[in-house]
Amino acid sequence: MAVENIKKYVFGNPLNTGAVVMEVAQSSGNPEGLSADQAAKELKTELSKEAFVYGLGETIRGINKRGWLYRSNNADEPHHEEGKNSLYASHNFFIVDDGNSCIGYFIDHPGFVEFDIGYTDKDLFTVRFNDFDFDLYVISGKEPKEIVKNFRELVGKSYMPPVWAFGYGQSRWGYKTADDIRTVRDRYKELGIPLDMIYMDIDYMQDFKVFTINPERFPDFPDFVKEMKAEGIRLVPNVDPGVKIEDGYDIYEEGKEKGYYCKKVDGQDLVAAVWPGKVHFPDFLNSDVRKWFGDNYKVFLDAGLEGFWNDMNEPAIFYSEDHLAEVFEHVKELEKKELDIWGFFEFKDVLGSIDNNPEDYRRFYHDLDGRKVRHDKVHNLYSVNMTRSASEAFKRLAPDKKILLFSRASYTGMHRYGGVWTGDNMARWSHLLLNIQMMPALSMNGFLFAGADIGGFGGNTTEDLMMRWVEFGIFTPLFRNHSAIGTRDQELYRFNRKDDFKNLVELRYALIPYITSVFMNAAEKNDMYMKPLWFDYRGDDRCREVEDQLLVGDSIMIAPVHEQNATGRYVYLPEEMKLVRFRSYDDYDTEVLSKGDHYIKAELNEVLVFIRPGRELPLATPARHVEDLDMNNLKVIKF
Ligand code: GLC
Repeated sequence: MAVENIKKYVFGNPLNTGAVVMEVAQSSGNPEGLSADQAAKELKTELSKEAFVYGLGETIRGINKRGWLYRSNNADEPHHEEGKNSLYASHNFFIVDDGNSCIGYFIDHPGFVEFDIGYTDKDLFTVRFNDFDFDLYVISGKEPKEIVKNFRELVGKSYMPPVWAFGYGQSRWGYKTADDIRTVRDRYKELGIPLDMIYMDIDYMQDFKVFTINPERFPDFPDFVKEMKAEGIRLVPNVDPGVKIEDGYDIYEEGKEKGYYCKKVDGQDLVAAVWPGKVHFPDFLNSDVRKWFGDNYKVFLDAGLEGFWNDMNEPAIFYSEDHLAEVFEHVKELEKKELDIWGFFEFKDVLGSIDNNPEDYRRFYHDLDGRKVRHDKVHNLYSVNMTRSASEAFKRLAPDKKILLFSRASYTGMHRYGGVWTGDNMARWSHLLLNIQMMPALSMNGFLFAGADIGGFGGNTTEDLMMRWVEFGIFTPLFRNHSAIGTRDQELYRFNRKDDFKNLVELRYALIPYITSVFMNAAEKNDMYMKPLWFDYRGDDRCREVEDQLLVGDSIMIAPVHEQNATGRYVYLPEEMKLVRFRSYDDYDTEVLSKGDHYIKAELNEVLVFIRPGRELPLATPARHVEDLDMNNLKVIKF
């Protein structure tokens, strides 16, 4: 790629985040289209009436980001509502596109960044910083796809998972024993629903201690891993960063002795609390710590595990010891007073300030290989370096194996080490739509291996929501049903319409040759896995406002039904296409539809796929596991 498509401007004294892999010479003068105000710590650009803004990866709201305030500040945020400003990730790449010309920007800064995209003033885009120290990359290209490609060359190739990771995965917080997991396996097997992975949540651990396995719940763990693998199922545990403070726990003691935990200004290790109770946070921004933590995956690799999900790595803090002491003091004072209504609100606010408190992120420091940096200044890099620690360890410990790895929190650059899931969503129709709208933005940012908790993590799902979500999930690279403890059970065998679910998951397996080839291509060529329509149909203004149809690769468009009780939906076709209405991989009808608007029926068990002119959709015969698919013997639906 010609580097003249990318210009780099340096403001202040930026820290190397590791996001960028390409050398770009520094430009001087004013960056194209932007004015910088150092005193106000702002960048500004005007938005024309026609301007759309694409990007920002994993965040709230629609495909066109104009009209809201977004904050890069990785947050343990289970309320994925449109009134929020941050979710788990910070992806500071976006494109401003007025329909004729477009320009991309990547703001490489590891701390807090605010994107006011027509929120304060609808015609202004303002980027605000706490610290005006960052690298700004201005990326040009004649169309958004080209800008994306150029950006992705800048930040390096996306993570490529093993092919079995494209299978279906069942997860739930609450599988406590090996027998619970065997039951899940058996129920799927009885019904013949394909399944490649069962995820293990925190209950597999001994007292939630990282890199341990509870020997009562999981006796002979390596044998259990073998037993499951012999049945075609891989176990995928989660790994949390906090190390339980417990004398005699080898990992805790080793980290303590070597000084590997994040420290407060007085040199004491920060004490925070997460699932294990009180923990220390490994200082992943330090290369020795990354190596140490990563080497600990060996116990799992030796047991035969081949996949992991890194969780709680914003990092989430339920409370810090210091802040909790302040809260108790404050509450004691309030207890002595006769509370008026404002005193009562103060009391409520004090209690509400306990978890993920911004002050806590200013209480500890990292040792960036010799340079001491306060956590909040590099907050968004914590997850990147935890995931990097694992990824680099896998290269050392299992160089011949592809390991599945994805993370909850992320920042640009982490896309080279693993994928993401979009955290604790809820069983809501609006969260299915959010999943649809987030996917292309994740693709833009290089997070190709991505997906949401299908069916919703929090709250009680319903059979129809689950079915519609599976109908979209069959197209997302990560295809995992996950839910929280205490919610309604949502394994597919819990529902009445088991055959419909079986047909849908089988359809996913039939689509795996197509899905994996689009994925590999996108990863190799720095393309997007899922695109908004506008990215391919730039001549057609109608496509700009289509927020719930996506292109998957270059051959198909999908139009998921995402509304309760709907038995069809409006679909806009930017050109003539062949509709394939799937009920299963071998039960479908087709119809050629003209360019324009159509109301298209889609009963609860029906999936709408549109093949573009001159393209084809290959289908494999489904199998119970990805590795049993015959990828060479494909049926093809052509248009
Ligand atoms: C967090 C994760 C969720 C997991 C839970 C328990 O909320 O996001 O996926 O189930 O922790 O480990």
